[in-house]
Amino acid sequence: MALLRLTKVLSGDRAATPPDARGRSTQLRSAQAPKLARGRIREDLDWAIERDPAVDSRLEMALASPGLHAIWVHRLTHWMWTRPGGRLAARLLSQFARAVTGVEIHPGAQIGRRFFIDHGMGVVIGETAEIGDDVLMYHGVTLGGRSMKHVKRHPTVGNNVTIGAGARILGPVHIGDRVQIGANSVVVKDVPAGAVATGVPATIRFPDMGQDPYELMFKDPALWI
Ligand SMILES: CC(C)(COP(=O)(O)OP(=O)(O)OC[C@H]1O[C@@H](n2cnc3c(N)ncnc32)[C@H](O)[C@@H]1OP(=O)(O)O)[C@@H](O)C(=O)NCCC(=O)NCCS
Repeated sequence: MALLRLTKVLSGDRAATPPDARGRSTQLRSAQAPKLARGRIREDLDWAIERDPAVDSRLEMALASPGLHAIWVHRLTHWMWTRPGGRLAARLLSQFARAVTGVEIHPGAQIGRRFFIDHGMGVVIGETAEIGDDVLMYHGVTLGGRSMKHVKRHPTVGNNVTIGAGARILGPVHIGDRVQIGANSVVVKDVPAGAVATGVPATIRFPDMGQDPYELMFKDPALWI
């Protein structure tokens, strides 16, 4: 039963269910859930293998990746967090996962598909952080807040973003799609799509646009407005 519940969570397709078709769709989902969950896990493993040249097989990745273990537990704790009365249990389970993996992901954080944390240790992801799809993160990254108020206070990270080891992204800043954030950088302002941000505080450059200002103007005229 618990396994069935977990697989439902991992499948993440509850929102697609029309409320008027509840009975039949629940049966349908129960039947499909294990297949969907297996598909998601395989997708996570394949994406992680592509990004970690030190690992050769799905089995090795599944058994020896604390980053993936933390993400899989987070999918469960996030589901618990959104259920009435589930918050304390979610926090306790996430603290257990932190003790085992070295990765602290608050159950409230919203994380997309194919998220991979390489090495894992020392990562902290705050309650109101939002992370898109296909994000790669290394050890020691903080997605932290700069406010003590109960408001959106953590970063929003787009799709296809890479965040280097030890980088700190602080406050409710927006990190655009395809951004690369350098190891040990400190980001406290928005980073536009396609940029590379490095240093303390981070400065921004656009690698695929070249250095020629004439070329830059045609690639993104908005830069000159
Ligand atoms: C930011 C990053 C993506 C840039 O990659 P790149 O585009 O290939 O960068 P380059 O090597 O061409 O360097 C461009 C410039 O940025 C500087 N730079 C690169 N990374 C930097 C960093 N983390 N902090 C500060 N400056 C950095 C380089 O010294 C170079 O400066 P220069 O033009 O004055 O010589 C990459 O350096 C990085 O930090 N990746 C994270 C990798 C990581 O965390 N690995 C952990 C594996 S365990």
